[in-house]
Amino acid sequence: MQAHESLPAAPASSVDEDSTATRRDAGTGESSRANRGWWDRNADEYQIEHGTFLGDDRFVWGPEGLDEVEAELLGPAEELAGRDVLEIGAGAAQCSRWLAAQGARPVALDLSHRQLQHALRIDGGKVPLVEADAGALPFLDGSFDLACSAYGALPFVADPVRVLREVRRVLRPGGRFVFSVTHPIRWAFPDEPGPEGLSVAASYFDRTPYVEQDEEGRAVYVEHHRTVGDRVRDVVAAGFRLVDLVEPEWPAWNTQEWGGWSPLRGNLIPGTAIFVCERD
Ligand SMILES: C[S@@+](CC[C@H](N)C(=O)[O-])C[C@H]1O[C@@H](n2cnc3c(N)ncnc32)[C@H](O)[C@@H]1O
Repeated sequence: MQAHESLPAAPASSVDEDSTATRRDAGTGESSRANRGWWDRNADEYQIEHGTFLGDDRFVWGPEGLDEVEAELLGPAEELAGRDVLEIGAGAAQCSRWLAAQGARPVALDLSHRQLQHALRIDGGKVPLVEADAGALPFLDGSFDLACSAYGALPFVADPVRVLREVRRVLRPGGRFVFSVTHPIRWAFPDEPGPEGLSVAASYFDRTPYVEQDEEGRAVYVEHHRTVGDRVRDVVAAGFRLVDLVEPEWPAWNTQEWGGWSPLRGNLIPGTAIFVCERD
């Protein structure tokens, strides 16, 4: 949930001062480096802007505000106690804190040191934190019962199958991985909350990454687009079964905009896709 500003309508204020937005290829190493830097530089602002909506210990799947309390995509809350859960791209570990309150044993992993410092600020180190790239998880095979990711890592990586394979590896048989990403259809529209965000401006089928780059052409922020079909194939290629694909509807109570996500657009087109995957 952050700064993807579809070209050509990117508001200049959302792009770092000395960078420009473009669409071009970006590999695994470049994407990882760029996004670590971006999240380290922008974590403070992100937590100030979105921390209240996210809550210190709520589990929100996306800007629509779908809460795991009602969604139960990881299973009934009363069955979470005692389960080992890995949260990927955890940010300030809000979801992990909710999981801990249900009696689960979460581990919050993120690429960004600064995001994890916000986790420490909030709970003083109650949730175990791991600084690592989702593409190389520093855990033994079969370490977790469940894994989850609310807009963490998957929108930002060049090789999502690699991440999904890693998650499958660290899950125990019967384990479940639930992850949310920007709904792929959003890539066809300008990332604007108002009416200008309602007209198709780019091909849904163009997988070229969104890249913000500095004056030397070095990427400073990268998001990767996969179509719905791509995501399904990625999940299957990694050895998971896809058991549900949830497209949260915009609820009447939510009057808040989050970047290009708004009540206006949310009432017309989906903004988030949540993939529920299981390993046998
Ligand atoms: C939009 S935030 C989501 C965090 C949290 N779920 C929330 O809603 O605030 C995306 C997070 O993914 C992390 N991230 C991006 N790429 C990653 C990667 N390759 N491995 C691990 N974390 C990554 C970022 O550092 C950032 O904290």
